[in-house]
Amino acid sequence: MQPTVKAFFDDATNTVSYVVSDPTTRACAVIDSVLDYDAAAARTDTASADRIIHYVRQEQLRCAWVLETHVHADHVSAAPYIRDALGGKVGIGAHIRTVQTTFGRIFNIGPEFSRDGKQFDQLFEEGDQFQIGDLTAHVLHTPGHTPACLTYVVEKAAFVGDTLFMPDYGTARADFPGGDARTLYRSVQKLYALDDDTTLFLCHDYLPEGREAHQWETSVGEQKRHNIHIHEGVSEEAFVQMREKRDATLGMPALILPSIQINMRAGHFPPAEDNGTHYLKLPLNQF
Ligand SMILES: [Fe+2]
Repeated sequence: MQPTVKAFFDDATNTVSYVVSDPTTRACAVIDSVLDYDAAAARTDTASADRIIHYVRQEQLRCAWVLETHVHADHVSAAPYIRDALGGKVGIGAHIRTVQTTFGRIFNIGPEFSRDGKQFDQLFEEGDQFQIGDLTAHVLHTPGHTPACLTYVVEKAAFVGDTLFMPDYGTARADFPGGDARTLYRSVQKLYALDDDTTLFLCHDYLPEGREAHQWETSVGEQKRHNIHIHEGVSEEAFVQMREKRDATLGMPALILPSIQINMRAGHFPPAEDNGTHYLKLPLNQF
């Protein structure tokens, strides 16, 4: 039995969200949802999340899980909004505690922000299994892009977050606080140990030159043969050198500051101040 996978592409952030469902029991998981964010106005909107909610209702699916592959730095998560609308448990990697500790310090947040991951319903470790109806999902810890990155393997479909991009685009950056190119290389080897015909569902596509349409679906075999950064035969040293050199040229993602402050709180805004307004911080000269 294989899952039904429905992808939702967000043009504003190049993010792909997924609804993975069990055709037998109609249980589903929503992976990496997007809360729209207008940076100039600091205004959120639910149009993208509402498309997912509409699909789940239309298909009469029962939402069992609202999953994050990692704390995203490029878009705000709609996990709490999705859970309030559809139910389900919000899950992320147990190493979220490391991310919360690192960014709790960077944003100088007091002890009211707990760094134990309790804002999430479920913290997953390497090797954990869970059910989406009759489908069994396996958890792989695939750090490197961030310390808490997970891959969710649902039968022959793997949701890899930001480890690999399409073969013609390569890999994710590994220079955020807690990221590491060598660790990313080893995580990719873990993915390459899956069967060649495992379908990989990516979290982003940035449309490299020479390609007309966004793509987010590939396979382990394709990646091993054609990934421009890590195909079979690329050594760890060569990858690390390439990745670090390239990362040194990249600017910060436009939404990193709002995204991390909200996403490390499981998609909740920082507590409102006494006038009822939620505020985000901008640490100067820290990134
Ligand atoms: Fe990411």
